[in-house]
Amino acid sequence: MNPSSTESGRDAASSRPVTIMDLKHMKVQGRKITVLTAYDYPMARMVDQAGIDVVLVGDSLGMVVLGYDSTVPVTMDEMIHHCKAVRRGVRRAFLVGDMPYLSYQVTEEEAVRNAGRFIKEAGCQGVKLEGGAETAPTVERLVHAGIPVMGHIGLTPQTATALGGYKVQGRDMESARRLVDGARALVSAGVFALVMECVPTVLARAITETVSVPTIGIGAGPHCDGQVLVVNDILGLFDRFVPSFVQRYATLAPQIMEALARYAEEVRMQAFPRPDHGFGGGEDLLEALFGH
Ligand code: KIV
Repeated sequence: MNPSSTESGRDAASSRPVTIMDLKHMKVQGRKITVLTAYDYPMARMVDQAGIDVVLVGDSLGMVVLGYDSTVPVTMDEMIHHCKAVRRGVRRAFLVGDMPYLSYQVTEEEAVRNAGRFIKEAGCQGVKLEGGAETAPTVERLVHAGIPVMGHIGLTPQTATALGGYKVQGRDMESARRLVDGARALVSAGVFALVMECVPTVLARAITETVSVPTIGIGAGPHCDGQVLVVNDILGLFDRFVPSFVQRYATLAPQIMEALARYAEEVRMQAFPRPDHGFGGGEDLLEALFGH
């Protein structure tokens, strides 16, 4: 039996809230960290109760829940609204809110103010922001303000256009060096964990082995300290675009559509509601109200 899965199972059963220190210990002990996104209260409850270690309210919200074509249009207010809902559903997992595009790039003051909203208004325990070495000064400022920060390097969807589209990063020397330098700069700036998205497996492994904080991979192979995916993708709830690195654990969209169609059919056929879906009483009032 794999000892790491036994350890994870024990943690999942415990209801003690996950801390940054727990995540660090998991890296040291070689126990994989599980991360999933959630965007609303019911899904947050299920993800938390399934024993996931970190819940991320990702700005993927924009695409899988709000119907935008990319994450770029997502606003601070939209993120805060959804983080508050997720907060109400999460008891055990460590909760991270994703800072949307241009909420942390304009000035460091604005970054602190916006990150602070995730903590103060929405009850998140940390924030995530995208970018490598160029974001390190901002990360440092947030960390000094007492805000735990998760970094995100590799494919950074908010700036995918500048990267030449949604594609694997770090395949040539210049891009690989940018990744390694970015990882080091972010760790020095004080990130508590580092997401690596669409990074070649060997590079993700080498970075994981050299940095002191947990790495969380998405399309970065099996050697990262943890894995993150978008919950709507793994449940088969979002089919407009499914990245190749996604593993589907359910295909719920067709089941949901079948249930909705059955409901509509039963209403039209007057098979729903049945008498037992209604409430008795009121017969004695009809005479006075309607004269019959
Ligand atoms: O927005 C998001 O959901 C993310 C994760 C998939 C890493 O950034």
